Amino acid sequence: MSIVVLISGRGSNLQAILDADLPVTAVISNVAGAGGLELAARRGIPTRVVKHGDFQTREAYEEVLAAEIDRFAPKLLAHAGFMRIVTAGYVARYAGRMLNIHPSLLPSFTGLRTHERALAAGAKLHGCTVHFVTPELDAGPIVIQAAVPVLANDSVETLSKRVLRQEHIVYPRAIRWFLEGKLVIDNGRVSVKGNDAQYLFDDKS
Ligand code: GAR
Repeated sequence: MSIVVLISGRGSNLQAILDADLPVTAVISNVAGAGGLELAARRGIPTRVVKHGDFQTREAYEEVLAAEIDRFAPKLLAHAGFMRIVTAGYVARYAGRMLNIHPSLLPSFTGLRTHERALAAGAKLHGCTVHFVTPELDAGPIVIQAAVPVLANDSVETLSKRVLRQEHIVYPRAIRWFLEGKLVIDNGRVSVKGNDAQYLFDDKS
């Protein structure tokens, strides 16, 4: 039972995963000095940095990254703000045991600047999604989603904060389901044994 968490930045989702007492055995970043590395180190969790810029190709980078990951023999790989597009080869290596959190209600707003784009589109609901990683960007089977309202006076900052609070609830929940063997993928759709609700709606904010 172990999780390797991949990050690129501040690591607030990592923090939520650690606060939920989930068994994180290593944290790996593609960015030296990422805030999450410090969080992990403070808890005595091994950290590694594999900088993508040090490699000529995605494949060469991922070869070294995967070697580091595999050292810890994780049951689950959790991308938590890991801002790299990965190749089909990498996805295949961890197929069915790699989760990602994305800051939108997929399939809306794949890619970057999701909060800005939701505001520009006049969306009235926004949120986040935990999904299995597949070769197509932000398109893998959806495990859980949380929705929040988009308020008339929202800025990227206020909206992203509201979404982030939900990220910190749903990601640990999804990871726990995975580790407990409760997630079933059938025809690209995920269900949870025991029928736990796979959505959250926070309209109090
Ligand atoms: C989170 O909002 C996460 O959903 C997003 O990056 C942020 C990382 O924050 N991920 C993506 O945009 C992936 N495409 P954190 O480092 O504080 O967890």
